[in-house]
Amino acid sequence: MIQPTTDTLAQPIIRFADVHKRFGSLVVLDALSLDIPADRTTVIIGPSGAGKSVLLKHIVGLLQPDSGNVYFHQQRINHLSERQLEPIRKRIGFLFQMGALFDSMTVGENIAFPLRHQGIKSERNIQQVIGEKLAVVGLSGSEKKMPADLSGGQKKRVALARAIAMDPEVVLYDEPTTGLDPIRADVINELILKLKEELKVTGIVVTHDMASAFKVADQIVMLLNGKIIAQGTPQQIKTMENDDVRHFIEGRANAADLKALHRL
Ligand SMILES: Nc1ncnc2c1ncn2[C@@H]1O[C@H](COP(=O)(O)OP(=O)(O)OP(=O)(O)O)[C@@H](O)[C@H]1O
Ligand SMILES: [Mg+2]
Repeated sequence: MIQPTTDTLAQPIIRFADVHKRFGSLVVLDALSLDIPADRTTVIIGPSGAGKSVLLKHIVGLLQPDSGNVYFHQQRINHLSERQLEPIRKRIGFLFQMGALFDSMTVGENIAFPLRHQGIKSERNIQQVIGEKLAVVGLSGSEKKMPADLSGGQKKRVALARAIAMDPEVVLYDEPTTGLDPIRADVINELILKLKEELKVTGIVVTHDMASAFKVADQIVMLLNGKIIAQGTPQQIKTMENDDVRHFIEGRANAADLKALHRL
């Protein structure tokens, strides 16, 4: 048997290689290269419109680069057809920015949706997964509830239960704590940590919530104008001297923003 070398062990699970993406004249990703290590949590921060959600959508083939490549386990995925993407999408859970539960379906049916979509027929099997995933997110017994009867935090947890229904290797979390009070937000942080530690999930978290970023991240990447301007451990990011990074993580307006205000 060939033993894996340290080199193969260190292969990233997802790789962006010189990715360019624009919408009309708007450059959103500008020669972006990024490695996402397996079994770790990478947090992407950056101002609104920086291209964070666009970056996540490239990982599941919802968007394709204009040039450059995206790899999943060293397989180039940006030229694949919808049918070829299916087996890859099965391995990646996506918690969308807006949560987006199906309002007309019960909590249980929302979680069952990806399972049925993947052709799982055994009702016993489906009910078991619903029960298991609701337990993971701390909402056991909520199968029959309708989304309208849940709080914002509970909805996010159900959306997370749905995102992990297929036992994905990778979970993409687009602003998982936005709109939640600090305690509910921290429940989501704990869930992200638990999925990594207990189920070896590779996480990519897009967030504006710096408390969450520092708590869950193994590495933090800051995007600005389609480029990575900083990358490091939470400790390295906390102590970086770059002005854009400091303004962002401290939540302070920069000189240009303040100047615009004084003109009012
Ligand atoms: N499908 C699309 N068509 C045209 N423009 C788009 C499309 N998707 C995103 N954009 C534009 O690309 C830019 C980056 O969008 P993106 O959603 O990635 O921002 P973001 O960093 O996630 O911001 P936020 O923090 O507000 O969610 C924005 O200016 C947005 O309007
Ligand atoms: Mg976004």
